[in-house]
Amino acid sequence: MLSVSVLGCGAIGGVVARALQAGEVPGVVLAGVAHRDPVDPPDLPVIDEAALLVSSDLVVECAGHAALSGTGPSVVAAGLDLFVTSVGALADADLLRTLSAGPGRVQLTTGAIGGLDLIRSAAAMGGLRRVRITTTKRPEILGQKWMTDTELSRLGSATEPLVLREGSAREIATAFPRSANVAASVALAAGDWEVVEAAVVADPGAERTTHVIEAEGNAGRYRFEIENLPSEQTPTTSAVVPYAVLRAIGELAGRSPVFR
Ligand SMILES: NC(=O)c1ccc[n+]([C@@H]2O[C@H](COP(=O)([O-])OP(=O)(O)OC[C@H]3O[C@@H](n4cnc5c(N)ncnc54)[C@H](O)[C@@H]3O)[C@@H](O)[C@H]2O)c1
Repeated sequence: MLSVSVLGCGAIGGVVARALQAGEVPGVVLAGVAHRDPVDPPDLPVIDEAALLVSSDLVVECAGHAALSGTGPSVVAAGLDLFVTSVGALADADLLRTLSAGPGRVQLTTGAIGGLDLIRSAAAMGGLRRVRITTTKRPEILGQKWMTDTELSRLGSATEPLVLREGSAREIATAFPRSANVAASVALAAGDWEVVEAAVVADPGAERTTHVIEAEGNAGRYRFEIENLPSEQTPTTSAVVPYAVLRAIGELAGRSPVFR
């Protein structure tokens, strides 16, 4: 059995931990959850971070960028595998280097998007010339601490789609830590942080979170459009993300053929 602990018990971690606890993923046992919420979940085994390092084979991070940079290095240094949802934190090249040094292995969730497999394949065929990801969410979940009062008031009073920021994937993943993890995912799939452009759009009419990924290179031209329902608990996160995590854990633990 693969012993899995979950760091973070919110929209992603809570769903993942409860499914593991219910035995929904064959070959996997839940070691426990570690979190920073004011109250422990009554239905899950809670462990502290020290226990997490000794009681699991795989640590599933669902706790945010600061948690990944704070705890991730000790997980891989202890030889445990680390499954990452806060992919945007890897825009920090030092953190990416530290985590990649092992000896534990780092796995990344595909999370809210698809098409990363084909982007990787196309990048391997002579690289990509142009890659862009445009993320559209509702304005009320896109406010950031670095925004000026003017920017925040423009965001709050938007009546039509408003391009909040455009830039490199590294810049956008860092500026919107809860909303643009996918910009980092695309850059990591492309194997090139410089070629990937990203944009975040606030749309007061958006009932779903939309990601449009466009890529062009020697292998061809691609366009993926994803419309996800937001999580009710944490609307910056799409409801499908914990199921992407559970699918991947099942694949890591299982013996069925999987797409690679
Ligand atoms: N890769 C993707 O496609 C994708 C998609 C959506 C969200 N995300 C990211 O996944 C992460 C989790 O998202 P969520 O919606 O579940 O968040 P959430 O706010 O619903 O839950 C976060 C949980 O982490 C816990 N936590 C915070 N800091 C911690 C720490 N230092 N140690 C232990 N626990 C800690 C909190 O107590 C809470 O239980 C975020 O970084 C989010 O940006 C990634």
